[in-house]
Amino acid sequence: MIKRTLLLALLTVAVGATAVADKGMWLPSLISSRIKDMRSKGFRLTAEDIYSINKASLKDAVVLFDGGCTGEIVSPEGLLLTNHHCGYDAIQALSSVDHDYLTDGYWAKSRSGELPCKGLQVAILVRMEDITDRLAGGESAEAIVAAAKAEGKGYAAAVEQMYYGNEQYLFVYRVFDDVRLVGTPPSSIGKFGGDTDNWIWPRHTGDFSVFRIYASPDNEPAAYSKANVPYRPARHFEISTRGVGEGDFTMIYGFPGNTQEYITSDAVDYIANLSDPVKIALRTERLDIIREAQQRDAKVRIQYAAKHATIANAWKKWQGEVLGIRRLGTLDKKRAYEARFAAENPSQAFLLDSLHAAYERNITGYYLRELFNETLRAIEMPQMVRFAMAARDHERKRTVAAEFYKNYDAGIDRAIARRMMSEFVRLAPEGTVPDALSALFAAHGGAEAYADYLYDNSSMTTFDGLVGGDASADAAAEFVAAVEPLYEHASRYAYRNLSNVPDIERWYRPYVKALMEWDRERAFFPDANLTLRVAYGKVAGYEYADGEYHRPQTTLEGIIAKDNPDIYDYDIPQSLRDVYSSKQYGRWGIDLDSRRTVPVCFIATNHTTGGNSGSPVLNGRGELIGINFDRTWLSTMSDVEFDEDMCRNIIVDIRYVLFVIDRIGGAGYLLDEMRLK
Ligand code: ARG
Ligand code: ASP
Repeated sequence: MIKRTLLLALLTVAVGATAVADKGMWLPSLISSRIKDMRSKGFRLTAEDIYSINKASLKDAVVLFDGGCTGEIVSPEGLLLTNHHCGYDAIQALSSVDHDYLTDGYWAKSRSGELPCKGLQVAILVRMEDITDRLAGGESAEAIVAAAKAEGKGYAAAVEQMYYGNEQYLFVYRVFDDVRLVGTPPSSIGKFGGDTDNWIWPRHTGDFSVFRIYASPDNEPAAYSKANVPYRPARHFEISTRGVGEGDFTMIYGFPGNTQEYITSDAVDYIANLSDPVKIALRTERLDIIREAQQRDAKVRIQYAAKHATIANAWKKWQGEVLGIRRLGTLDKKRAYEARFAAENPSQAFLLDSLHAAYERNITGYYLRELFNETLRAIEMPQMVRFAMAARDHERKRTVAAEFYKNYDAGIDRAIARRMMSEFVRLAPEGTVPDALSALFAAHGGAEAYADYLYDNSSMTTFDGLVGGDASADAAAEFVAAVEPLYEHASRYAYRNLSNVPDIERWYRPYVKALMEWDRERAFFPDANLTLRVAYGKVAGYEYADGEYHRPQTTLEGIIAKDNPDIYDYDIPQSLRDVYSSKQYGRWGIDLDSRRTVPVCFIATNHTTGGNSGSPVLNGRGELIGINFDRTWLSTMSDVEFDEDMCRNIIVDIRYVLFVIDRIGGAGYLLDEMRLK
C-alpha cells in the first residue's frame, strides 16, 4: 500500500534527522533503521545480532517474566536473572514461617534444590511480524493468531497495535510453565532501601533474583514435571565483569509496558491536574492507615509488606510525575505544538477538535473508573465476597481465600472502608453514585457509619467465615450488589490509559499519522505496550539540582553509610558487614577514589518504563553489564515526556549481582555455568 510505504519512508528520514537523541523504544525487527546511530555511539554488533529469525540472536535470551517484567538467560542451561521485586510474588509464595526466603534469602545447593514456582511463566519471542497489509487485505486477526499458535508446542500469539493502530504486529511467543527459583538474596539486600529509596538515586539496592527455565527432555515447553530438564536456549548472554564508565554505550532489551508520548494537552491536563492528584491523595490516606497498623504490630508489617510496596510504588511515581510535568511545562509545550500543527495543517486541524471533543465525552467516565478502583475497589473484603459469590469451583475458592486471608487484617480494611466510602461519595461526579449505594449510606447514617455497620455485621472477614458461610446471605452481599453498576462501568472503561478509550483512540490514528508526515524532525517510536523493545544510550550522571551533580556509580561505601539496624529499610545482613570489614571482595573489588570497594548500581540514559524491570543492560559488545530496575526521581514523568538531560534508568551492576551470589550467598558454583568476560 502506497500510504504505508510513505509512512515508513518518512520514519526513516525523521530518524536520520535526529540521530543525537537517546529517546525512544524501538522494535527489534526494525532496529536496522537505528543501527547507524547506535554504532556511532559505541555499539559493535549488527542488527542481525539483536534480532533475527534466521539464526540465534540476542532476542532469544530475553524473556517476558511473569507477564509484567523482563528477565535474561545467562547460561546454556536456562539460568535466568530478573529483579528481586519481579520474583517477589514467587519468593513470597514459597516462603513460610519456617523457611522465610524473603527475610533470609535462598540458594539451591543443587539442581534438586531448585524450587518449582506454581503459576510462574516466562515467554520468549519467536518472531514479530508486521501484518498491517495482511489485515488491510482482509485476513482476520483471529485466524492469523490461531495459525501462529498452532506452529509449535507452548506457542502463544497476539496482535498488537503500533502508533495507535496505524500498524499492526503479530507477536509469537514460546511460553514456558516450569520455572524454578534458584536463589535470591535476603530482602535486606534485594530490597535494600525499601520504599524510602524507591525512585531515588543514589541507590544501593541489590534488586535481583535467580531462576531457571525447565523444559521437556526434547527441549520443548512443558508443565512442571520431575522428568523436565534445564532448558537449552538458542542464545544466552555473556557477562562482562570489566565494569562501566561514564559515557559508555548501554543498550536495554526488554518489555516496556506503557508510555504516552503522543497524547494531546487534554490528556496531559487530565493526568497532571486530575487523575494523579486524586489518586495520590487517596493512596496517602490508605498508606497512612496501613503504615500505622504496621508500626503497632510486627505480624501486620509482614502481612502488608507487599501490598504497601505496590500501593506506595505508583503513589510515589505519580508525585514525581506531576512535579516533572510541571517542571518541564509539558502542558504548555503540548498546547503550543498543537497550535503549530493546526496552523500549518489547516485541513487536518479538525483532528485536534475531534480529539478535544472525544476527551470531553470520556473524561468523566474514565475518571469514575479510576476513582472506583482507588476507593470502593480498594476495600478488600467485599472484593473477596464478590469473588466467592461467583466462584463455581470450591477447591479454587479455598485456595484463593487461603492466600487472601493469610495477608488480611480486618481492622485495617474497616478503617480503609470508612475513608474510601466517604471519599468516593465526596469525589464522585454528580449523578454517578448508584442509587442503591446512596440508599445504603442514608439508611445507616452516612458512609462511615455504614462501613462500621458492614464490618460489625459481616462474617466474611475470616477464612472460615468465607469458606464455611454463605457469601450471598452476608451483609457484604448487599454492598456488592449496590456497587455492581460501578464494576460494569469500570469494565467498560478498562483501557490502558484514558487516551486508549476507543472513542478517543480512533482519532489518534489519523492524528499521529498526520504528525509523522508533518514533523520530519521527530523520531517516532511506537508507544510502549509490553512488546519487546530496544532502547540505547550511555552511562551518565546528571545535574540533580543547581551545583549538585550526581555521579553515575554507587558502591558498597554507600550501603555501609546507610546501614542502620534500627531502620528496617537499611538493616543489612551481618554477612555483608563482615565482608566489608574484612575487605575480602575477591575478584569483585574495584579501586575507586583511592578506595578498595565493590560497585553496586549505576545509571544510564536509556528510555525505560514499567515492565523494563529485570531487563538486561548490555554494553557495546552485547555483553550483560547490569539488570535494569528503576528510574530516578527526576525521570518519573518520562512516560509522558522524556527529558534527555534528566532522565536516567537505574541498573544494578552485574558485578554486585555476582559478588552477592558468590560472597554473600555462597553460591559461587552458579558462576561456573555463566560465561564471564
Ligand atoms: N520503582 C520500581 C518499579 O516501578 C521498583 C519498585 C519495587 N520496589 C519497591 N520498593 N516498591 O517497579
Ligand atoms: N521499576 C519499574 C518496573 O518494575 C521500572 C520503571 O518503571 O522504571 O518495571
